[in-house]
Amino acid sequence: MTQVTNTVRFVLDGEIMEAQGVRRTTTVLDYLRDDIQRTGTKEGCAEGDCGACVIMVGELNAAGTGIDYKPVNSCIQLLPALDGKSLKTVESLKRADGSLHPVQSAMVDCHGSQCGFCTPGIVMSLTNMVQTNTSPTRSDVANALSGNLCRCTGYIPIIDAALKACSQPVAALKVDDQADIPLLNEIRRPQHPTLSLDGDIVVQPVVRTRKGSEFVSPSTVDEVAAYLTSFPDAKLLAGSTEFGLQVNKQFLRPKNICYLGNVTSLGEVSETAQAWTIGAAVPLATVEVLVKNAYPDFSEVLRRFGSPPIRSTATLAGNIVNGSPIGDTMPCLMALGATLTLRKGAATRSVALQDFYTGMKQSVLQAGEFVTAVVLPKPTAKQVFRAHKISKRFEQDISATCCAVAFSLNGDVMTDVRIAYNGLAPSPCRAPKLEAVLEGKNAAQVTADALDAAIAASFTARDGLRATWAYRSLVARNLVMQFVEEAATSAQEA
Ligand SMILES: Cc1cc2nc3c(=O)[nH]c(=O)nc-3n(C[C@H](O)[C@H](O)[C@H](O)COP(=O)(O)OP(=O)(O)OC[C@H]3O[C@@H](n4cnc5c(N)ncnc54)[C@H](O)[C@@H]3O)c2cc1C
Ligand code: FES
Ligand code: FES
Repeated sequence: MTQVTNTVRFVLDGEIMEAQGVRRTTTVLDYLRDDIQRTGTKEGCAEGDCGACVIMVGELNAAGTGIDYKPVNSCIQLLPALDGKSLKTVESLKRADGSLHPVQSAMVDCHGSQCGFCTPGIVMSLTNMVQTNTSPTRSDVANALSGNLCRCTGYIPIIDAALKACSQPVAALKVDDQADIPLLNEIRRPQHPTLSLDGDIVVQPVVRTRKGSEFVSPSTVDEVAAYLTSFPDAKLLAGSTEFGLQVNKQFLRPKNICYLGNVTSLGEVSETAQAWTIGAAVPLATVEVLVKNAYPDFSEVLRRFGSPPIRSTATLAGNIVNGSPIGDTMPCLMALGATLTLRKGAATRSVALQDFYTGMKQSVLQAGEFVTAVVLPKPTAKQVFRAHKISKRFEQDISATCCAVAFSLNGDVMTDVRIAYNGLAPSPCRAPKLEAVLEGKNAAQVTADALDAAIAASFTARDGLRATWAYRSLVARNLVMQFVEEAATSAQEA
């Protein structure tokens, strides 16, 4: 069982590493490069955009017999969050006999590297992919590389290299980690809270400085609630894709950081016949797969959310609480009638996401209160759900707007219409005046003029850095028209 040692313990290539004296906001990238001289991992942007810093983070599978990996941007991940996990960097790929991993050999053979700055990150993204997908299509490879920018080689030789590597036996593609498994079992984090003699929960820190700043990593929701009761200003850390950015670019240094990634129940999805309950630490990559059949458009919005290293850690709850006006998951969740489960102390309450925001980056969340889950209703009979994100670049880009529309189609008549957008108002929101244009009508009765008038009456015209208002309002209208017309056509053809 993990001891409280004020030491971050993780496994690196068959060895338990003990990082002592690190700050609570030390990034994994800084630790790798500055403290242990693993300089193969590069720093390009320090904000999760370029992929030069991609590494693989491993966690024991449920049986404790193998390791599940995900690609992460080490520049925006905090080292204390690694406690109890394992790490693979580009240096880890060298075999005992000095030979290269098949992905590296293929990169050489296919001339996949010129200046080489992007290469370690690209190799790690591809090596991560082949741990689970050993016969990828070109499109799979492009998706795996969507968070890796290469300025000089161009992607064709790199994609060729990935496919060539996969001609090797499956066993050769696996990273060497047999020695890591018992060590991960040894440093596994405790599953239960520590209790004082009075029976109170004592949340043990991973890192605590002499000035009393600390990073805690609880295992249960009760511990999180107890910690926030003691420290209502503590900052919660989930996937770190926004938090890490603020650490690097805005020098965010909260006194108390409470990491949710080790709270087992928050990493789970449960379901009833009516809904999924998605824990607040479930990564978007899992949600993308979860909703693929029921809501393919939502899954597609998630596939275009950031990149694989972003989606491997980023959460719905983090996106929602961060509350950016262009947050991408909220329009889909609002149109689908999602609710949030909030916890404060021993009390829980449920809030509809559409009622969550009170202004730009402001919400009904109280001090010491946090999101434990997002409840997403399952599709109902006759329900149509459509969504699309408009951005200049297909992946790894910020929305001009994302529109989501849900309604029931009875014959050709639309009822129970819900429309939501991001990018048009200070926070993502529903658009009741547009909903009224559709409610009780068929597609032929919905006119562009009526939608334009509803948009003008609903939102304040504002040009932005990413799009003019003329463009935003035009695509906002056209997306609704497109969804309505396509639903009518599909219904006629059925
Ligand atoms: C390169 C890059 C690409 C991105 N692309 C997109 C994109 O395409 N679309 C988009 O919408 N966003 C994007 N983002 C923004 C970011 O990834 C998302 O907002 C993400 O969902 C945040 O989730 P997280 O788990 O990483 O949150 P964190 O960074 O861990 O936390 C974000 C905020 O939420 C709070 N928080 C987290 N969990 C809880 C909880 N359970 N209860 C209460 N508060 C909580 C934290 O305290 C913090 O204030 C991108 C970011 C980067 C760096
Ligand atoms: S340094 Fe660019 S993504 Fe990390
Ligand atoms: S090889 Fe130079 S950036 Fe990719």
